[in-house]
Amino acid sequence: MTTQESTNLSTMSTKAMASIDAYHLTRKEAARRHAIENVASLSRALEKPADAIFKLFLSPTVLMAIKIANDLNIFTLLSHATPFVTNVQLSASKDTDILLIERIMRVLVCNGFASERGPGQYEPADLFINFLLIMCKTPEFFRKTSYRNPGDPKNGPLQHAYNTSGSCWDWLAENPDALDRFNTFMEGHRTDIAHWVDWFPVQEQLLEGAIANRPLIVDVGGGRGHDLVGFKERFPLAVGKLVLEDLPSVIEDIQDLDDDIQKVKHDFFKPQPVKGARAYYFKHIMYDWPDENCRIILHHTAAAMERGYSKVLIEEHIVPDQNAGPQETLLDMTVMVWCSGRERTRRRWTELLDSVGLVIKNVWLPDGHTNGIIEAELQVPPESSPYSVTAN
Ligand SMILES: C[S@@+](CC[C@H](N)C(=O)[O-])C[C@H]1O[C@@H](n2cnc3c(N)ncnc32)[C@H](O)[C@@H]1O
Repeated sequence: MTTQESTNLSTMSTKAMASIDAYHLTRKEAARRHAIENVASLSRALEKPADAIFKLFLSPTVLMAIKIANDLNIFTLLSHATPFVTNVQLSASKDTDILLIERIMRVLVCNGFASERGPGQYEPADLFINFLLIMCKTPEFFRKTSYRNPGDPKNGPLQHAYNTSGSCWDWLAENPDALDRFNTFMEGHRTDIAHWVDWFPVQEQLLEGAIANRPLIVDVGGGRGHDLVGFKERFPLAVGKLVLEDLPSVIEDIQDLDDDIQKVKHDFFKPQPVKGARAYYFKHIMYDWPDENCRIILHHTAAAMERGYSKVLIEEHIVPDQNAGPQETLLDMTVMVWCSGRERTRRRWTELLDSVGLVIKNVWLPDGHTNGIIEAELQVPPESSPYSVTAN
């Protein structure tokens, strides 16, 4: 190492340490990201040409192994593993050499796509398994559909991959293992992001002005209720009912829930049964659906709202109009293959809400994140909404 290289490294190291200290002090997301960038620069500076070659030249072998695993039916067999599958079972499916299976599985395991229970015994690694199969078949889907943007929730990459004609939610209801993996993923997904009530001004925007004998929050498509449970823990004395709505298969999957949270089996493509609530909260719902379907959901919500009192809170990514980051762009691809859904920019959100007579009042973004809350209210009476419900 030359003296100059050594000096550069020590400058970068000092900078990286300073940014880590700044993150410790402030606990701000922007500071954490800044620290990651500085540490990554330091790591790159430490790399030798052989390290870079290893990364660039050899990393596509992971994609190759995934493609081969898909051709050998491995993801399907893994997704049905009860509780594991063996190398012998995997090799029998397509009469493959066990040695080849073991080599492919080693790559999948060390990259987190499966795990090993014992030598030659494999378990699925959460939701990845169901997604991987769809992702592997998505290029074929696009060849078949002449590269049209998927716009039908019942005819997208998932339906092509699993040869089914229902929505992804119908498919989950028919596949209880996958449903459990999905709900567990959604519950765990938030552990690294602050709960919405920690950064949304709940007191000012919701509780002040809330009427005691009216529903306070309706969590529409709220899964097994983790977001309302989090709300109740932080605001135990808030007045007004908390209502959790989801499909029957999800509501029936709930083992234990605070008695103060009312469970309602509800299809959000049907009229909203809870009228005049202070807030209708949708977390990670709209990105699962094309605009046409979102308009139906929002139209039913608008019809249940009381003008000047009720609000719609949509917690999702607000994709920057330019230079979107990896999280929202990769999620955009994921919802595209899973449910023909999409992530939206602020302009697209404005257009969507405006088309059902809702107006954005605020966009709340926790520091350094693009996942935030869009707060909207009724703009015009629902009767004069330019959109009328025709489907479902
Ligand atoms: C991506 S998950 C989000 C769950 C929860 N809001 C969260 O963020 O953790 C989408 C939810 O929408 C529900 N869902 C899908 N179709 C629905 C429908 N037609 N009516 C009501 N809920 C539905 C699913 O069961 C699932 O719980």
